[in-house]
Amino acid sequence: MISAVLPTYNRAPIAFVKGEGSWLTAEDGSRYLDLGAGIAVNALGHAHPALVQTLTEQAQKLWHVSNVYRIPEQEKLAEALVDKTFADTVFFTNSGTEAAELAIKMARKYHHDKGTPRAEIIAFEGAFHGRSTGAIAAAGSEKMVKGFGPLMPGFTHLPFGDHEALKAAVGPQTCAVIIEPIQGEGGIRTLPDACLKGLRDLCDQHGALLIFDEVQCGVSRTGRLFAHEWAGVTPDIMMVAKGIGGGFPLGAVLATENAASGMVAGSHGSTYGGNPLGCAIGSKVLEIVSDDAFLAEVNRKGGLFAQGLESLVARHPKVYEAVRGQGLMLGLKCKATNTDVVKANYDQHLLTVAAADNVIRLLPALNIPDADITEALARLDRAASALEA
Ligand SMILES: Cc1ncc(COP(=O)(O)O)c(C=O)c1O
Repeated sequence: MISAVLPTYNRAPIAFVKGEGSWLTAEDGSRYLDLGAGIAVNALGHAHPALVQTLTEQAQKLWHVSNVYRIPEQEKLAEALVDKTFADTVFFTNSGTEAAELAIKMARKYHHDKGTPRAEIIAFEGAFHGRSTGAIAAAGSEKMVKGFGPLMPGFTHLPFGDHEALKAAVGPQTCAVIIEPIQGEGGIRTLPDACLKGLRDLCDQHGALLIFDEVQCGVSRTGRLFAHEWAGVTPDIMMVAKGIGGGFPLGAVLATENAASGMVAGSHGSTYGGNPLGCAIGSKVLEIVSDDAFLAEVNRKGGLFAQGLESLVARHPKVYEAVRGQGLMLGLKCKATNTDVVKANYDQHLLTVAAADNVIRLLPALNIPDADITEALARLDRAASALEA
């Protein structure tokens, strides 16, 4: 008999009842060290006092009003994002998937309104942009699209990081290029800075819009507020979600005035997107994670963690192959089967997340204490030894 919850997930048989910082408590009272952070969502860990306070205060004032009215909390968060990024304007969603939908719509509407409609959007193998019909068409992998056709047309898929293929593909017919500066689900695959720069140039040359999907790599995860800042290039449109709500469902599309020029009143909307509760929390998260001292700590902690992981790989060459990633968006390319490694980590009460390319992801809270990094490394070590045995 089918379970009451639609069985679309391969769930581990653990349920958590409480969270604090980087630790989760299971139903049986045992504690787990959380290196998944809800897959890069709990940017400040569980039950961060400032977020609990913000949520509680806002909940007592106003949760939700429709977007048919002005929403001051939304305006405040939008202004902060505009202030801190390339963007001139922001639309709020509830998730990364909805951000993908708007990014695609915005790009197509831009060219439509310029009088030269273009449909083709170039995307990359290994990409993940969400689970809507548009987002799966954008990612294009067999696993995600099989059985769900006909798909939204207009996507071309290229190998990740193959600049020659890109040069051949981008042309006057290209509406937009959509890319994650660091692929998350794809296995913590970083696009070299030179590739991002080359991509920007190609888009400029052909009048195509550049869309960065920073749903997983954004919001200070890599040690800069947004990952593309490392390369010194900016997109025309950017998708944000996950970390920006710190656990509250919140997403956003950021855009330049030019790229957003087609999005006039009535062209898009959302019931919940940008409600006062979500935006109050988003503003608090952004205030904390965009602070220079906070970012310096993410970089320092990321370096500390990566250094420990390098020696872990050296000690367990049969289990691990290499360390990937930047800041606290880290991955371990495995020699053993990654899902077996994740299970061995569960046995050590350590939460890690599998990704494609036989990688496990380490996406801890950005404020993870050094002592928890040390503890995580010890648990990873014990799990690898157990696998070897
Ligand atoms: C890069 C990227 N884009 C989009 C999404 C979709 O976001 P959501 O699950 O919030 O719809 C994800 C989710 O994992 C993601 O990692």
